[in-house]
Amino acid sequence: MAEKKQIKTEKTDSKRVPTGIAGFDELCGGGLLRNRTYLVSGPAGAGKTIFGLQYIYNGITKYGENGIIIATEERPEQIRENVKMFGWDFEALEEEGKLAIVDACSTKIGIPSHEKYVDVRPFDMRSMMDQIIAIQDEIDAKRAVVDGTTSIGFYLQDPAKIRVELLKLSTTLEILGLTSIMTCEIVDENMPSRFGVETFVTEGTILMYYKRTDSVRVRSIEIFKMRGSDHSKNIHPYEITTNGIVVHPHEEVYTA
Ligand SMILES: Nc1ncnc2c1ncn2[C@@H]1O[C@H](COP(=O)(O)OP(=O)(O)O)[C@@H](O)[C@H]1O
Ligand SMILES: [Mg+2]
Repeated sequence: MAEKKQIKTEKTDSKRVPTGIAGFDELCGGGLLRNRTYLVSGPAGAGKTIFGLQYIYNGITKYGENGIIIATEERPEQIRENVKMFGWDFEALEEEGKLAIVDACSTKIGIPSHEKYVDVRPFDMRSMMDQIIAIQDEIDAKRAVVDGTTSIGFYLQDPAKIRVELLKLSTTLEILGLTSIMTCEIVDENMPSRFGVETFVTEGTILMYYKRTDSVRVRSIEIFKMRGSDHSKNIHPYEITTNGIVVHPHEEVYTA
């Protein structure tokens, strides 16, 4: 478990978008499929935000693919601060025009924002999409993360509406040539999403478990669904280290 796996840097075909997350890409044939949207689901504290941010950070620093972060649940300044402990300097990437963080959190909770990119009409999917289109024009990103979808769902309430709005968002991302991750916080571990519809608008679902067994919590990850791709059907342990998430692809966890 303690042994760290080397990050795979091998060339993948152009249809694959490697996450660069140690141990993860080999679970799914080298990475995510290009121009598709994936859901990363799990309970609070599982590591969904870190997964999404690491995907974006690796994209820029290892694969030369710029990224967009849509932050609905944490303010950008918190994100910049939190990732410093992994040694990731988001501010520098923003200054270089490789990373854009959209503050979709402040207006929602009624506080002012001094960010360059602010979603001023929170929960208005049209405004969020316009914002993403404008940013895409500016930085030509290849990857995006929407962290997360849960607050959007709570606002819309009606599952049919949530489904349509998230479908609009994922389709917009795909049309813009972005390979994206949306995070989803679940409370019922038997459900792969919060509102029961998020998995329908995404091409794949990655489940992150954070289960208590006796006196310890065990982290594990499963590729629950990935259209158009072969993938591991097992549940694999992962750790959150000072370098971010490290998956152990050759070990399995039984959660029953
Ligand atoms: N440097 C670190 N070393 C080990 N664990 C960490 C570190 N930083 C964060 N974590 C773990 O990551 C968790 C938060 O991950 P996060 O991605 O914010 O979760 P989620 O978005 O699923 O709620 C924390 O609860 C903590 O256990
Ligand atoms: Mg989170």
